[in-house]
Amino acid sequence: MKAAIVSTGSYLPERRVHNDDLARIMDTSDEWIFSRTGIRYRHIADESEAASDLAVQAATRALERSRTKADQLDMIILATSTPDFMGLPSTAAIVQDRLQAGKAAAMDVVAACSGFVYALDTARAFIESGSAARILVVGSEVYSKILNWDDRTTAVLFGDGAGAVVVEAVPDDHGSCIAQAILRAEGAGAETLYRSHGGTRYAYVPGQTHESELKLQMDGRAVYMFAVRAVGAVIQELLERESLVFDDVDWVIPHQANVRILTETAKRRGYDLDRFYVNIEQVANTSAASIPIALDEMVSTGKLTRGMRIMTVGFGSGLTYGGTIIRW
Ligand code: ACO
Repeated sequence: MKAAIVSTGSYLPERRVHNDDLARIMDTSDEWIFSRTGIRYRHIADESEAASDLAVQAATRALERSRTKADQLDMIILATSTPDFMGLPSTAAIVQDRLQAGKAAAMDVVAACSGFVYALDTARAFIESGSAARILVVGSEVYSKILNWDDRTTAVLFGDGAGAVVVEAVPDDHGSCIAQAILRAEGAGAETLYRSHGGTRYAYVPGQTHESELKLQMDGRAVYMFAVRAVGAVIQELLERESLVFDDVDWVIPHQANVRILTETAKRRGYDLDRFYVNIEQVANTSAASIPIALDEMVSTGKLTRGMRIMTVGFGSGLTYGGTIIRW
C-alpha cells in the first residue's frame, strides 16, 4: 500500500491586515516589510477564534472535496505550535469531536513550521504499515495570539490560517503517492525561535515572568542562515534519493517564511526560482499551515494537477526541517 493526498482544503480568517495597518500601530513600514520579507498582507483571527476553529473549517472543505465522511477517518494528525490549550488536551482531539470523527485517533504534532511535513510523513508511515487507511492531516495556526505586538522584528512576519489534506491508502501501482520523505532536527538551535517561559523549564511565576517571555522570541539572522542551508540540503537529498534533477520537479512548495530565503537558496544551488510556489505576499508566515494552504490554493487555481511531481519543504523552530516528494 502507498499513501496519496486525495483532497485539500484551507481557511483564512476574514480580517485581512496590510503592512500599512501595522505601520499605524508600530514603528515599521510597507517598504521595510515587503523588501525584507515579500509580505504585504496577513489574516488575523478574531479574539474568539482558536486553532481548532480554523482547523475545522479547513478540514470540512477537504473532507467534502474527497466525499469522505468524518466517521470514515482512522486518524487526525494536527500540526500546530499555537494549540487551543497548552500541552493538553491536543487540538486534534477537539477537532475530532467537532467533526464527529467517531473512529479516529487524534494527536498533535509539534514541529513548528515543519509541522505539516512531519505530520504528512507520519500519516504516510501509518498508512504504508497498514495501521490506517484514511487520515486527515491538518496544519492550523493562530500566531497572532503568541506574538509580542511590541516587537516589530517578529510581529510583522506571521499570519493566521489553516490547511488540511485527506491522505488515503492506494494500491502500489496507483499514479498518486507520497514517494519520499526526509525529517530532520538540529535541537542545538532550540532557543533561536521559541517561547522561553510558561513551560516546565521556566514556569510562569506571577509578578516575575515578563509578558514578553511568554511570547515568541526569535534570532532572525540565525533562523535565516539555518533556513537557507536546510532548504537547499533537503531539496538536494530528495532529488538524489529519487535519482532526479531539479528540472524533473514541477513545483517546490516551501514553507512560506521569507521570500529572501527562497531567492538565496535558488541562487546558491542554481535552482529556477519560478518553480518555487510563493504566496507569502498575501498570507505571511502561517507556520505549520503554510504548505497545506499553498497546496489548496494551487489546486483551486489549476496550478497543481494530477500527475505532477512536487516537493514540499518545511523548516522552523526546533530547529526542525524536512521535505517530501509527492506524485500528485
Ligand atoms: N520595521 C522596520 N525596521 C525593522 C523591523 C520592522 N518590522 N524589524 C527590524 N527592523 C530594523 C532593525 O531594528 C534593524 O535596525 P538597526 O539597523 O537600526 O538596528 C534593521 O531593521 C535591520 O534588522 P535586521 O534584523 O538585521 O534585519 P534583516 O535584514 O536581518 O531582516 C528578518 C530581519 C526579516 C527577520 C530576517 O532576519 C529573516 O527573514 N529571518 C528569518 C526569519 C524567519 O523567516 N523566521 C521564521 C522562520 S521559521 C518559522 O517559520 C517559525
